[in-house]
Parts: sequence; structure tokens; C-alpha cells
Amino acid sequence: MNAIEQARQVLFARYGELENKADILKAPELRELYATIPNLDASERSAFGQAVNALQLELKSKVASESVVEKPLLPIDVTAPMDINTAVPSLLLAEQGSQHPLTQEIERVVDIFGRMGFVAEESREIDNQHHMFETLNFPKGHPARDDYDTFMTVEADSEGEPFVAPAHTSTMQNRILKKYYANLVDGEPIAAIVPDRVFRNEDLDARHEHTFYQVEGVYVAKGVHAGMLVATLQKFLEEYYQQKLEVRVNPFYFPFTEPSFEFALSCPFCENGCSVCSNSKWIELLGCGMIHPNVLKAAGIDPSVYTGFAFGCGIDRLVMMKHNIEDIRHFESAKLDFLRQF
Ligand code: PHE
Repeated sequence: MNAIEQARQVLFARYGELENKADILKAPELRELYATIPNLDASERSAFGQAVNALQLELKSKVASESVVEKPLLPIDVTAPMDINTAVPSLLLAEQGSQHPLTQEIERVVDIFGRMGFVAEESREIDNQHHMFETLNFPKGHPARDDYDTFMTVEADSEGEPFVAPAHTSTMQNRILKKYYANLVDGEPIAAIVPDRVFRNEDLDARHEHTFYQVEGVYVAKGVHAGMLVATLQKFLEEYYQQKLEVRVNPFYFPFTEPSFEFALSCPFCENGCSVCSNSKWIELLGCGMIHPNVLKAAGIDPSVYTGFAFGCGIDRLVMMKHNIEDIRHFESAKLDFLRQF
């Protein structure tokens, strides 16, 4: 019996130091106690065996009562602007990481537009078709809806329409126009950008990824014209690439802008053609235009009083050109040898 009491004290002393408490059940002392049973006198065997069993049970119930029950993760609200689950700080080993190149560049973009008077807003990871299409002058059945390879959910909203993973940051135009309407009443412009993630169900290659970033711009006031749009984008790009650039607009079509343009800049890397501009000296960068009267009306803004411009620029493309990144898929690849270069 002494042997059992001795082992008991040793095991309980060790228990306190064990990281994995269940390891105590595999202790050699316990095994040795069991191993001695067959060699005992028949008269002692049963009582000794019961005492060893009692010790093992005691340890088991101690382990069971003290083992940490893993707390379930809080559910994530997918319609909220951000999907960072702040309740699990242990998942965010920030001290071992570095900032993703896109995050670094988005901060620069926000800074430049901030200095031009634009506030930054976040988009959504899941949105409804009302914001993806209706408020942007794509009525139901509009053929241009098919131009956006939109991911849809199985679940539907109250109107029976599936939710969407936003295929462009223009989903935020209506919200911005409504949120900052009071600016117009005060004689101030509405000036906001939305740098955020968008999703498209596309065939993937070096230039196409299912998940990428855009920066949307919205500017509304009295007397806004297309020249202001071109000048704003030109200034932004010159600041971003830190050099003088020429820009060019060609007519294009979007349901939510009229007129609509495709906007190109002179290649920041060459004078006579290079691989970045496919020897054309121009780089088609973004879509933009004057906000369609129906989009203003959908937000309660009178288009006979106010006009505005909007643009949507792919951020990945901007960053790829800046850092000479040849494949857009690197960004979402989580490859450390890529990420460590920034
Ligand atoms: N949302 C458009 C796209 O992703 C770009 C755009 C934005 C065009 C704003 C005009 C105005 O294709």
C-alpha cells in the first residue's frame, strides 16, 4: 500500500507541471503498479488491485474535470463590412507576419485620395442584387448583368433573389450617395472611395483571378463635368507612380455611367513600348464615366441640380505594374517566398 501512496504523491506533484494533463494517465509509475499485481501474494492481490484502480480513476476524473473545453468560434456576420473575428486573437500572429503588398498599396491609394478630399468606405463580402444591379440602372433581365461573372449564394433574400459576392465595388455607390447626401445640402461635394475586395467567376490565368481588389471613386456636386474626372484620375496616377503621365479616354459602355469611358495611361515604364504595355505605350486601366441620372435618382439626388463622376480601378493591376509582378495569382497564393519580398 505504501508503494501506491508514494506513487500517488509523485504523480500529483508532476500533474501540476504537465502541459498536456492527460499525459499523467500514461505515467510509468502507474504502469509499474499494475505490473506488480501478478507477483503479489494472493491475499494481497485484490486489495492492491482495487487501490491501483482507484488511483487511476482519481487521476482520470481530475484530467476530465480540468481539461479545457474549446470555446466554439463566434459566428461571423457575413453581411458586415469586415470579416475579422476579433474574438480569436490567438489566430492573428501579427508579430510573425508582415503587411501584404496589396494592403501596403491600398494604404497609399487611400492616402493619396484622402489628400484630395475623398473619404474611404468599406464594401461588403456578401451583398444583394439590389445593390449589385438595380440601384446601378441594370433593371431585371438587363443583358449587361451577364457581363459580370457574379458568384451567387444558394440562400435568397426577402425578394427571393440569391445574394451575391460583389463583382465590383460599384455596389457601394448607392449607399455612399445616400450616406453623404447631407454634404450636398451643406454645399459640399460627395467625395468617397471604396478600396475593397471583389469576386468574379472567371477562367483563371496570369491576369485573371476570382478574388481581386478595386478602388471605386464617387464624386458629386453642382457643375461636375468629365474634365474633372480625367484630371482627378491623372493626378492620382501621377502621385501613385511619382511621375508625369499622359492619359487617354475612349468611349465605353456601363449602365451606371453616361457617358462611359475606358481610361488608359501612358506606360510609366517605357517611351517606346515594353512588355508591361505589350508594346502599345498605353495601358488600359479602368472604367469610369459620369454618373447616370437614374443612379442619382435611386439615391434621392436630383440629376437636374447635381452631376457627378465615378470610376472603378483594379488595384492588383496597379500594384503588379509598380512592382513588376507577372502573375496576379501570387497575391492570393499565400506563398511566403512571394510575400517576403515586400
Ligand atoms: N464597376 C465597373 C467594373 O468593375 C467599373 C466602373 C466603376 C465603371 C464606376 C464606371 C464607373 O467594370
